[in-house]
Amino acid sequence: MTNHHIALIPGDGIGAEVLPPALQVLEAVGRRHGFGLTCTLYDWSCARYLREGAMMPEDGLDRLRDKDAILLGAVGYPGVPDHVSLWGLLIPIRRGFRQYVNLRPIRVFDGLDSPLRAAGEVDLVVVRENVEGEYSEIGGRLNRGFPDEFAVQEAVFTRAGVTRVLDYAFDLAARRGGRLTSATKSNGIVHTLPFWDELVAERGAAHPAVTWDQEHIDALAAKFVLDPARFDVVVGSNLFGDILSDLAAAVAGSIGIAPSANLNPERAFPSMFEPVHGSAPDIAGRGIADPLGAIWSAAMMLDHLGHPEAARDVTDAIAAVLAKTDVRTPDLGGTATTAEFTDRLLQIL
Ligand code: NAI
Ligand code: MG
Repeated sequence: MTNHHIALIPGDGIGAEVLPPALQVLEAVGRRHGFGLTCTLYDWSCARYLREGAMMPEDGLDRLRDKDAILLGAVGYPGVPDHVSLWGLLIPIRRGFRQYVNLRPIRVFDGLDSPLRAAGEVDLVVVRENVEGEYSEIGGRLNRGFPDEFAVQEAVFTRAGVTRVLDYAFDLAARRGGRLTSATKSNGIVHTLPFWDELVAERGAAHPAVTWDQEHIDALAAKFVLDPARFDVVVGSNLFGDILSDLAAAVAGSIGIAPSANLNPERAFPSMFEPVHGSAPDIAGRGIADPLGAIWSAAMMLDHLGHPEAARDVTDAIAAVLAKTDVRTPDLGGTATTAEFTDRLLQIL
């Protein structure tokens, strides 16, 4: 029997409430499809930061390096600045393991109300560049406290970094609907985004089976609201991809269901799978968190580990529980607890 070694990082708040349901689902499909999981639990979190002064130990990445994948809940805690949790854990993992593709699929499931009346058949994937772009360490602040205080932050777009994420997005588009949209803003941002556009055209020519276009990010945001069904694969820089995928998740009904994968496509390092949502301190501890984002992320992990049929079983069960029952957590208008909803999903599975 194949066995996969998984690193589990529940994190803070509802992160720790949504990972156990995801594990129950993984165990159930593992039995059916003949693979096992060995999990190692890490308590890396803001709670650890408050206790020990760091989100993770200094050799944190070395402890994860030999794992087949990382499954993460969410980090964030009132009182700990958000840049500490992000730059102390998530960004070091994404960059240290060269997880340069952030994949965020969105679907409007039958039985889920989109806040948009005319959302239609939404089934799209946002491909976000995950290790460079606007999220850069280059820059600084000078003259603190004086009237001439200023801050400078440099966006970094490299030919290699943009090309590899575009190639991933074009290949994905070729396997899906054959259409790709690039998010840009080359009218206002006059150096980096014209460069991005040039590389899109170059990689587009190398992928003749894919029809592509580009939209300025402001117009694209409006179209995500007015006509989300027209999109299939959308590729964007680190910042544009982040904003678009939260917007698309909201269109799909709740940020609680949205999954994401941080991929190292070469598989030189483990990839990381995590729901898009955060630690939700406003509902943490009440047992009502929606586990779908974590469960769908676990399905993406199965796909990456070479079990596409098992992954499809999980997404089919998600679709079925929403289409055929009215069991839902409160974020989707129901009254079920996390555990009640998970039980119903497991029955269907
Ligand atoms: P959030 O995603 O934690 O919560 C936003 C809203 O959505 C809240 O009202 C929350 O109750 C609701 N929500 C989110 N996930 C839900 C779920 N599974 N079920 C039901 N309702 C859900 O974002 P927020 O409030 O901006 O951030 C809270 C903390 O989480 C912050 O410390 C932030 O830094 C952190 N965060 C961490 C992320 C990560 O670990 N990747 C991502 C986003 C935020
Ligand atoms: Mg985000």
